[in-house]
Amino acid sequence: MAQIIDGKAIAAAIKDEVKLEVARLEAEYGRKPCLCVIIVGENPASQVYVRNKVKSAEYVGMESRLIALPQTVSEEDLLDQICKLNEDALVDGILVQLPLPKHINEDKVIDTISKDKDVDGFHILNVGQLWVGKHCITPCTPKGIIHLIKSTGVQVKGKIAVVVGRSNIVGKPVAKLLLDENATVIVAHSRTEDLPSITRLADILVVAVGRENIVTGDMVKPGAVVIDVGMNRNADGKLCGDVDFESASKVAGFITPVPGGVGPMTIAMLMKNTLECYLDKENGK
Ligand code: GUN
Repeated sequence: MAQIIDGKAIAAAIKDEVKLEVARLEAEYGRKPCLCVIIVGENPASQVYVRNKVKSAEYVGMESRLIALPQTVSEEDLLDQICKLNEDALVDGILVQLPLPKHINEDKVIDTISKDKDVDGFHILNVGQLWVGKHCITPCTPKGIIHLIKSTGVQVKGKIAVVVGRSNIVGKPVAKLLLDENATVIVAHSRTEDLPSITRLADILVVAVGRENIVTGDMVKPGAVVIDVGMNRNADGKLCGDVDFESASKVAGFITPVPGGVGPMTIAMLMKNTLECYLDKENGK
């Protein structure tokens, strides 16, 4: 039976570290870090994520601002809001919750956020810096995944890591971060032929597709570290990941649960990224 990687507990410990650091820095610099979150429309999942982000910012002692815009807001008005926040010296981090309504160009919105306030690490310049190995803001979910893998004590260097999924938010950046850890990385996706024969190679298996049960126990190498990034609702309306936990946990060495695995880590890393942006600003970087 696999050991369960308790993302909730690991994230709570990180947030407590950030909280101490925020208190120390507020005393030193005379102001709190400030995270500004923008939500457009009323997507229920986005509302839950955004509420958790704001709550966490408050928990660690940061200032948080929530800007809720109607589904019908024009792209121009949204971009104007972002420009104002870019110029606001008291705002350290800006996050626009995705997805956005279809009439708004997501890339344009992301690239309008100042690269130095881009706490998601989605700005094209941060993505470029990540891929050439320069200082950048690292996307939260991939950063949290690496943290969880390291928490197992399993050596990543020289191992085979398989990432299933090639999104800009998770699949591609986590593949790069695993490369940085000297893993041999394979990126599989919806067009991959014979997915089970690829996933069975993985000492480290990261699954980020968004489809329930895309990975089952027979697709897992015995003893592997399995990271489930999925967040789906099954037929009974229950939250579940991309991995069939029941069968995979009998084969894996370590596995993340859903909920309580990757999800809380994304938010903990967002707090760390906001703190980094604040520090870079205070130190004139
Ligand atoms: N929607 C789903 N995940 C994310 C994320 O990490 N950041 C933002 N901004 N939107 C998302």
